[in-house]
Amino acid sequence: MDSKAIPFHFVLFMALVLNVGGVGVNWGTMATHHLPPEMVVEMLRVNGFDKVKLFEAHEGILRALIGTDIEVMLAIPNNMLQDMVDPDLAANWIEENVTSYLNNGGVNIKYVAVGNEPFLRSYNGTFLKVTLPALRNIQRALDDAGLGSRIKATVPFNADIYNSPASNPVPSAGDFRREIRDIVLEVVEFLYNNNAPFTVNIYPFLSLYGDPYFPVDYAFFDGTKKPIKDGDVAYTNVFDANLDTLLWSLKRAGYPSMQIMVGEVGWPTDGDKHANIKNAKRFNQGLLRHVLSGKGTPMKRGRINVYLFSLLDENAKSIAPGNFERHWGIFEFDGKPKYEFDLSGHEENKGLIGAENVEYFPMRWCVMNPNADDLTELSSNFQYACSFSDCTALGYGSSCNHLDVRGNASYSFNMFYQWNNQRNWDCDFSGLAVVTDVDPSVGECRFPIMIAYGFSVSLRRGVIGNLLIVVWEALMLVLLV
Ligand SMILES: *[C@@H]1O[C@H](CO)[C@@H](O)[C@H](O)[C@H]1NC(C)=O
Ligand SMILES: *[C@@H]1O[C@H](CO)[C@@H](O)[C@H](O)[C@H]1NC(C)=O
Ligand SMILES: *[C@@H]1O[C@H](CO)[C@@H](O)[C@H](O)[C@H]1NC(C)=O
Repeated sequence: MDSKAIPFHFVLFMALVLNVGGVGVNWGTMATHHLPPEMVVEMLRVNGFDKVKLFEAHEGILRALIGTDIEVMLAIPNNMLQDMVDPDLAANWIEENVTSYLNNGGVNIKYVAVGNEPFLRSYNGTFLKVTLPALRNIQRALDDAGLGSRIKATVPFNADIYNSPASNPVPSAGDFRREIRDIVLEVVEFLYNNNAPFTVNIYPFLSLYGDPYFPVDYAFFDGTKKPIKDGDVAYTNVFDANLDTLLWSLKRAGYPSMQIMVGEVGWPTDGDKHANIKNAKRFNQGLLRHVLSGKGTPMKRGRINVYLFSLLDENAKSIAPGNFERHWGIFEFDGKPKYEFDLSGHEENKGLIGAENVEYFPMRWCVMNPNADDLTELSSNFQYACSFSDCTALGYGSSCNHLDVRGNASYSFNMFYQWNNQRNWDCDFSGLAVVTDVDPSVGECRFPIMIAYGFSVSLRRGVIGNLLIVVWEALMLVLLV
């Protein structure tokens, strides 16, 4: 049959089929303590996530995904891109981390992400030369394994690879950053010819965080009094404007019909004055209503394929970008939902379903000893406890920012104690601290109890994160000796 003769109703049917399906979510593992992967996979299932994006081929996680329908995107971390320039190593990666999980009813792997935001400005070009060869070799390895039509390699880019000139800040003036434009377009050409999607991470929160004059309403999806005019089009939210800046950049380069996926998008709940439950709920709920509605953006109708960032809070992420980095989850680190969130996009007051039968350490906290009166060592102990745990909730605009000096000390002592599995000798601090069974939480400022699962830090997420963790680990070693 001549392809031009495909009946219209068939095309329509296919369009409907392709439009079915919900939302995806990123599952990162940069945490000191991890819920068992089986428990997290169950959370994905009962909440109806049909896509998950991983930052590496984590064996335990892949095993837990065996036999589910959940569509999986696996990633090759940036620090392995250099290896992937060797076709044999790329083939080995695919063999060990993809092919071996596909046997009868295995894992529904759909995409392999080659690197994570490898052209990020702050990486200073470290991965510019290796990304495209790695992408080619990975897709070649997939093709050679007979998987090329079913599994596509892609590269998740940060939205900082394109922009509009300051003199004309509208989407239709968008283009790829000049110094990386050629290499980005080679990647685009490869993806396009291979029928693979272009993946981009978009963060309206960072627009607001980084610019005190950014109009708050424009970060959300409920309309704004001052839309951005671009010719006849009025943009009422920065997400659409950002995505259309990409679509214009692609169109300008000759790729008006490139498939797009949003690999990360979300809103954190703590660690900054704009990072709270109310804003996160407003953003994420508005986002889903919008992307699932089929309205699309002014440049492109249809559903927008998104992976929320992220599933769970990760307490060991680098806070170089800001204190909010450890608070992107729609669930707490222990699998408790943070707010009501209707994943169907209809904004009904539906709750998310949390993890079940989670095991915790005993209901014990480490706090400032109320009888301590020599406070000369307090500040150094506070600093110490915070540098080896997570005090991101104490900063300006955060959930525990109202604590007094003693409250601050208690918070930091407790975080240190919980990170270290409630070992008695980790609640001393020159005699300033005591263990208590009375919950010291005050209002929204919660003093968590750690989950009782193994201590491990995943090391594979970007150069900066890795460096910080390496430094952190070296310090830990020094302390242990
Ligand atoms: C498979 O992925 C894991 C996790 O990223 C990595 O450690 C391992 O080296 C990969 N296997 C091969 C053969 O490259
Ligand atoms: C990039 O360059 C800046 C400024 O020279 C430096 O501070 C930073 O550490 C560099 N980052 C990486 C990942 O090399
Ligand atoms: C508590 O700690 C935070 C974070 O270090 C700091 O910003 C705040 O000023 C401290 N509060 C008091 C009362 O010292």
